[in-house]
Amino acid sequence: MAIVAPSLLAADFLKLEQACTMLNESEADWFHLDVMDGRFVPNISFGPMIIQFIRKTTKKFCDVHLMILEPEKYTEQCKEAGADQLTVHIEACPHLHRNIQLIKSLGMKAGVAINPHTPVNSLIDILQDIDLVCLMSVNPGFGAQQFIPHSLSKIRELRKLIDNWNLPVKIEVDGGVSLENAGDIIAAGADVLVAGNTVFKSADPKATIAQLKKL
Ligand code: DX5
Ligand code: ZN
Repeated sequence: MAIVAPSLLAADFLKLEQACTMLNESEADWFHLDVMDGRFVPNISFGPMIIQFIRKTTKKFCDVHLMILEPEKYTEQCKEAGADQLTVHIEACPHLHRNIQLIKSLGMKAGVAINPHTPVNSLIDILQDIDLVCLMSVNPGFGAQQFIPHSLSKIRELRKLIDNWNLPVKIEVDGGVSLENAGDIIAAGADVLVAGNTVFKSADPKATIAQLKKL
């Protein structure tokens, strides 16, 4: 059974409290929170202040995905806002290992995200130090995009690597996850499904989450 992490990016922000209550009452395991800076990605979403409000509504695990340059500048603020896990992009971090050490020193779990064009083997020298890989199955920046089919072979390749080395690293798949493709994504080796529009734009979000949990 996969961990289901709905992305609040797809929620109605005027009704954010209702969206959080819905997730709390649902079978969702994690809250996935997408932070965008308009520099690393061509869109701006929200930052630590909003995370702090969301944190107050829930006891569930807050999985924060930083799509920003210089994430080290905001790492401590994210911790104070209540992040349980912080994921940074390999493409945004010339000193990735240092960023990971900082995240862990503050008591958070650490993740590394890779864009669709970034090879899985670029993770080889960081895999031992992290808790999660976020495999982007769309180009980061926007919700409601189409799943890139090549992502499936990247999931399989990463699964092999993690299993060969017997590492406790989770594979999270982010972007374009739907009820139609989630089965294949899990079969390829994913542990965590991020789902934005599939959950929030469905007629019955709680039932959709339950369906994702059943796969
Ligand atoms: C994309 C974000 C995703 C996004 C997923 O840049 O990292 O987490 O919210 O949204 P969907 O599931 O709609 O593709
Ligand atoms: Zn995300």
